[in-house]
Amino acid sequence: MAGKFLYGAATSAHQVEGNNVHNDWWMWERGDTKRHRSGKAVDHYSRFREDLALAASLGHNAHRLSLEWSRIEPNEGKWNQKEIAHYREVLSELKKLGLTSFVTLHHFTNPIWLARKGGWENPETVRLFQRYTEKVAEELGDLIDFWVTINEPVVYAMQSYWRRLWPPQKKSWWAVERVLRNLARGHKQAYDTIHTHFARAQVGVAKHFIAELSPIPDWWFNRRFLNKTRGYHDFLGVNYYFPSKWQAWGGEKSDIGWPIYPEGLTDILLSLRSWQLPIYITENGVADARDALRPDFIRDHLRAVEKAQEQGVDVRGYLHWSLLDNFEWHLGFGPKFGLVEVDYETLQRRPRKSAYIFKAIIEQATSRF
Ligand code: BGC
Repeated sequence: MAGKFLYGAATSAHQVEGNNVHNDWWMWERGDTKRHRSGKAVDHYSRFREDLALAASLGHNAHRLSLEWSRIEPNEGKWNQKEIAHYREVLSELKKLGLTSFVTLHHFTNPIWLARKGGWENPETVRLFQRYTEKVAEELGDLIDFWVTINEPVVYAMQSYWRRLWPPQKKSWWAVERVLRNLARGHKQAYDTIHTHFARAQVGVAKHFIAELSPIPDWWFNRRFLNKTRGYHDFLGVNYYFPSKWQAWGGEKSDIGWPIYPEGLTDILLSLRSWQLPIYITENGVADARDALRPDFIRDHLRAVEKAQEQGVDVRGYLHWSLLDNFEWHLGFGPKFGLVEVDYETLQRRPRKSAYIFKAIIEQATSRF
């Protein structure tokens, strides 16, 4: 059944909320003065009403956000009902505004107590993630339209256990493999748990894809996690930013040097056609403080989606990364990914020109229905 195409933007809790004092990132940020600190981030935690209203006013009909596990379960087995109530308010606000929700359960951060037990290296985490998922299903599930269990499992494993860029900054291939195995199991158990509560739930992961990879890296980085979790996806979530060929890149690049290559998105989507599942672009965006590249970036990537649709790929939504400028992990507040610019002094929000261009595209597309 072809419903309306979903258009919107994405965020993640630690990058926008501020004061996530109970997670491993917060602890790590404070472990060395050279590290960027998320601090109050963009204070989305208290300004979510304003931000979601802004998204709606920019024509969005969907929105992706993440729940912060460490707020919901700040100590092992102890639920914080106040934080659960907060997320009920956020999700109710989305409903009120008519925005379809994509809710991520794990977007790179872990509660400190979990990190101390070895985090995703520890097989016990699978059960603990399942218990957290169960709690979310019971308390918030009625307000969730699309579930994204895990954001970018392979990126998470590589940055944290191989490239030493993110906590716990390890470099061990065994750890990478263990983490991936546990994330795959975690996803599958969460999938079943959610479906026990909501038989018709839409559950998937947000999988990062790199275009133009040669066959072995393509298999390892792009495909293996999905293959290992086959049968546990109601849709495929695609996060796409760049192709692999960085060195000899003659074309345009973002502020942080990522090559811009919209055709790569068409290729990735075509490569997923055989899954015969609905596909949502769960992230796609560009670090571009001057907003010089973003207007064409959006237009060209939406065109790339259309090209895949014309060839039979069932793409049903596009969520831009990000709604707001935010805390870009180990790079701090430097890269500006927002459709909406945030003044970090005053925390004032100001939509960039590209936000209005995106709005015009959405209006034009939806008027065809
Ligand atoms: C992540 C986001 C991040 C974005 C830009 C994705 O890999 O899911 O958290 O901000 O890329 O780097």
